[in-house]
Amino acid sequence: MQNLNAYLNSVLQGDCIEIMQTLPDQSVDLIFADPPYNLQLKNQLYRPDQSKVEGVFDEWDRFESFEQYDQFTKAWLSECKRLLKPNGSIWVIGSYHNIFRVGAIMQNLGFWFLNDIVWIKSNPMPNFNGTRFANAHETLIWATTHPKAKYTFHYHSLKTMNEDLQMRSDWYLPLCTGKERIKISNQKAHSAQKPEALLYRVIIATSNVGDTILDLFSGSGTTAAVAKKLGRNFVCIEKEPTYVQIIQERLKQIQPLPQELLAYKVEIPSPRVLFGQLVSQGIVQVGEMLFDYTRTHQAQVLADGSLVCNQKVGSIHKISAMLLGKPSNNGWKFWHVMRDNQLVLIDDLRKKYIEQLTFDG
Ligand SMILES: C[S@@+](CC[C@H](N)C(=O)[O-])C[C@H]1O[C@@H](n2cnc3c(N)ncnc32)[C@H](O)[C@@H]1O
Repeated sequence: MQNLNAYLNSVLQGDCIEIMQTLPDQSVDLIFADPPYNLQLKNQLYRPDQSKVEGVFDEWDRFESFEQYDQFTKAWLSECKRLLKPNGSIWVIGSYHNIFRVGAIMQNLGFWFLNDIVWIKSNPMPNFNGTRFANAHETLIWATTHPKAKYTFHYHSLKTMNEDLQMRSDWYLPLCTGKERIKISNQKAHSAQKPEALLYRVIIATSNVGDTILDLFSGSGTTAAVAKKLGRNFVCIEKEPTYVQIIQERLKQIQPLPQELLAYKVEIPSPRVLFGQLVSQGIVQVGEMLFDYTRTHQAQVLADGSLVCNQKVGSIHKISAMLLGKPSNNGWKFWHVMRDNQLVLIDDLRKKYIEQLTFDG
């Protein structure tokens, strides 16, 4: 078995099953697999104006039968299962032609499904013959090798990315077009080049900086390009030498983002600050009065951070609960101090203090 370090950040030309067989067990954090679709396209498609449709008619997508496709699928998926670290995860993308077969084989091999994502293409190719619905989506399966895996998922960052709404399993993203689409002599260099935005989301969501990502059907190298940009290591496998060259050229153009821009800062928990800390720091003075927002109630701050009110002594929470006649209450949201003749919520003082702590490092 080869040490994976020898292959990090390189493109390996050859059959993925044969190459994966030489790689060590449990050595990769994330796998992205965009296998042949087995589209079974026999004849060239034409638009109504007789221009050619640039679909997937390539040799790499030809299989003799479903059985042959299934055998091939089972072989590469078995190797993926062996190569994944215990807490690693795998993404497989496909269309209606193959994703159901691939999904069933994954479950038979013991993969544990976490989600299926529907990539809804905002600019799909029409159904030129007008005989079926326009095929406007692909499906991605996200899975681990066993149900108890502690897989990586950057929930809070994704929510922030989605303007503070939980990220859903339907992703609206355009096809890879325009400048991003690699062309040779004005023709698409690869018929199935995926958009970088799709891989960006997959990689940001389910891996960490410095992780190793394997793409065993690299094509034009979209996974490697995004992995490099996002400070991950990659191992690329691709059968066709011309595509390998395309990937190598593509990777030369990519500069990794600076480390400090890759940190998942929204996920770092705020340091816990106690009311007594604000008192000992002099942010709230010993002896000063605290008020509720209507100024109906007031309490005095003692040296140990407790409050005294109507001859009762207790924490900011206990005294506020007593005044409200409730079993418990959040004192941070109840008490104010007077600053420049204005009431200031003690929770805002706490936030300012935390900000300063974070800023000072
Ligand atoms: C659907 S494309 C992948 C496209 C890629 N995700 C991209 O964004 O460009 C599948 C690729 O797998 C390659 N391939 C097919 N069978 C293979 C095999 N047995 N080993 C390695 N690569 C293979 C094909 O040459 C093709 O480039």
